[in-house]
Amino acid sequence: AEAALKDMFEADFRIGAAVNPRTIRSQEHLLARHFNSITAENEMKFVSVHPEEETYTFDEADQLVAFARKHGMAVRGHTLVWHNQTSDWLFKDSHDGTVSKAVLLERLRSHTQTVVGRYKNDIYAWDVVNEVIADEGESLLRPSKWLDIAGPDFIAKAFHFAHEADPKALLFYNDYNESNPLKRDKIYTLVKSLLEQGVPIHGIGLQAHWNLFDPSLDDIRAAIEKYASLGLQLQLTELDISVFRFEDKRTDLVKPEPGMLERQAEVYEAVFRLLKEYREVISAVTFWGAADDYTWLDDFPVRDRKNWPFLFDERHQPKPAFDRLAKLA
Ligand code: XIL
Repeated sequence: AEAALKDMFEADFRIGAAVNPRTIRSQEHLLARHFNSITAENEMKFVSVHPEEETYTFDEADQLVAFARKHGMAVRGHTLVWHNQTSDWLFKDSHDGTVSKAVLLERLRSHTQTVVGRYKNDIYAWDVVNEVIADEGESLLRPSKWLDIAGPDFIAKAFHFAHEADPKALLFYNDYNESNPLKRDKIYTLVKSLLEQGVPIHGIGLQAHWNLFDPSLDDIRAAIEKYASLGLQLQLTELDISVFRFEDKRTDLVKPEPGMLERQAEVYEAVFRLLKEYREVISAVTFWGAADDYTWLDDFPVRDRKNWPFLFDERHQPKPAFDRLAKLA
C-alpha cells in the first residue's frame, strides 16, 4: 500500500481534512489512514449548533469529535464569528427589530462559552473569526450585521471570549484570497492591530481555495512571509486545488482533460515544497475534504460539475499529485 500522507509530513505539519457526518462513513478508511486532524465542514457553525436562542444542537458535531477520538485525530473548531451560516435570531430583538450592541456581544459571549467550553478537551484550535476582511475597495472590513450592530469591536471581543472559554486553545483569524496582495495587506493590518491591543490571537488561517492557475507561488510565499512576520503560527485551513480557474464556468467535463491531473501534480508539488520551507511557522495543512467523490466545489461557484481538487480520486485511489508528494517527503 502507498505511504500515509500524515507520515510523509510528520516532521513538518499536521495533515487535516474537512469532514461531515456522511464522509466519516463513506471515507472512513481513507481518512483514518492518511489524515491526523479533522475540521467539521458545517457542523460547528453557528446556525448548526445554535439554531434558536434557547436551543443548542450538538449531535452532528459530537459525532465528528467521536470519530476523531476513535482514530486519534486532532480537531480544529470552525467557526464562531462569520457572516454566513449564522442564525437570524442572533441579530434580532424580541420585537423582530435589530438587537443592541450590548445584547449581541453578550449572546456571542454566551455562545462561545457553551460551544468552546463543550469541546475544550478535544478541540486544540478554533477559527474564531472568519472572513471579516473586505475583498475589494478601500475599506478594511466586509459589510455585515456584526459590523452594523457592534462596529469593529466584535472581532477583539470574539477572541477574548474564546480565550476565556478555553485558555489553552489556539485562536485563529481565518480568511480566503489570503495570497492576493491587497487582501493580504488588509489581513496583516487587522491582525497587527489586534496584537497591538493585546488580543489573544495565536495564528492566521489561510483557507487556500486555490486552482491550477491562481494564486502564483510568489504571492503565496509573500503572504506566508508577511503573516509570519507577526510572530504567529500559520495553518492552511481549507486547501483545495481545483482544475478550473475561478472565472471558468464550464460544465461540460465528465472527466479531467488530458494533462489536467499532471498539471495539478506539478502545482501540488510546488506548493508542498514551499510549505516545507516554512515548516517552522506552518503547523497544519487541512484539505477542505479528502477525495474527489465529495467536495463543496462541485456546487460552488458553479453548480453540479466536478472539480477534482484533491490528492485522491473518486474511488479514494492516489492521484498523480499524491505520487509527487510521496517523492517529496
Ligand atoms: C462551505 C461548506 O463546505 C459547504 O458545505 C457550505 O454549503 C458552505 O460553506 N469558507 C469557509 C467554509 O470558511 O466554512 C466554507 O465551507 C467554504 C468557504
